[in-house]
Amino acid sequence: MTSFSSTLFRDENQPYQANITVPNWMLGSMERVMQHYVDKNLRLDTQSAEIMPPPVEGKKYMLYAHIPFCHTLCSYCTFHRFLFNEDKARSYFGSLRKEMNMVKALGYDFESMYIGGGTTTVIESELARTIEHARKLFPSIKEVSCESDPRHLDTPEFQQLKGLVDRMSIGVQSFDDGILKMTERLDKFGSGQQTFDKIMAAKELFPIINVDLIFGFRGQTEEIIRHDLEMASKLDPRQITTYPLMITHQTRKSVKGKLLRLRVRWQTNIVKS
Ligand SMILES: C[S@@+](CC[C@H](N)C(=O)[O-])C[C@H]1O[C@@H](n2cnc3c(N)ncnc32)[C@H](O)[C@@H]1O
Ligand code: SF4
Repeated sequence: MTSFSSTLFRDENQPYQANITVPNWMLGSMERVMQHYVDKNLRLDTQSAEIMPPPVEGKKYMLYAHIPFCHTLCSYCTFHRFLFNEDKARSYFGSLRKEMNMVKALGYDFESMYIGGGTTTVIESELARTIEHARKLFPSIKEVSCESDPRHLDTPEFQQLKGLVDRMSIGVQSFDDGILKMTERLDKFGSGQQTFDKIMAAKELFPIINVDLIFGFRGQTEEIIRHDLEMASKLDPRQITTYPLMITHQTRKSVKGKLLRLRVRWQTNIVKS
């Protein structure tokens, strides 16, 4: 999946700063260039997948693990994901741990780990076990990042991740209940205000919290976007990542809205504030 996002970082006592503006024509060209390289370089034949090359001496590696399960399949999402099934998810986490042993046996070491999704927190105990396993196998790992939806942020199970995860990225997308309903998230993850309260409570669990927002949904007015940004900045997370709605064949037409005009306006304003 192609990802063009803009992350707003906060330094101590400074407002959020954003300086990336990507017009639609550029998104299209970049997507075509990336597709060209994927077609050229991505090899999925069994033979090459079975023979994993040993690590290159002196090269630094990051360990990436993908958790392709979600409690709901949001109508805009273009990521590789399947509807949650507990048995399949447990067995998947088990296979991931076995694969890590194989990678270790090949001589790999890692300085950081990124666990992406889907939703990495679908079963918190499995996620915690997998991170513990990785940290034990690869003691050089200094930072672990995960992604979560807002569903379980305030549960005792979620607390297990404290001390194991350094950066937790939370998919909010919008605090507007109309947008949440349209994207099929309201029933599963709760209202914008509930999500806000859960994130506020989860802040003390992790050194870095990131909040993901999307702009470009159908019916998402400038007022809604301003409100989303205000709510996100009130949470005062270390990072806010804003994604333009990316469209692929997976995206349902019902969610697609206009992009350019709104994006330019609010990015200019956030830098000034
Ligand atoms: C892999 S998702 C994981 C987050 C988590 N599953 C959730 O939904 O809350 C990471 C982020 O990708 C972004 N994303 C997913 N589909 C997108 C799309 N079509 N366009 C733009 N951003 C998208 C969302 O902001 C989402 O939070
Ligand atoms: S946005 Fe998150 S929860 Fe929704 S389908 Fe995509 S990965 Fe799953």
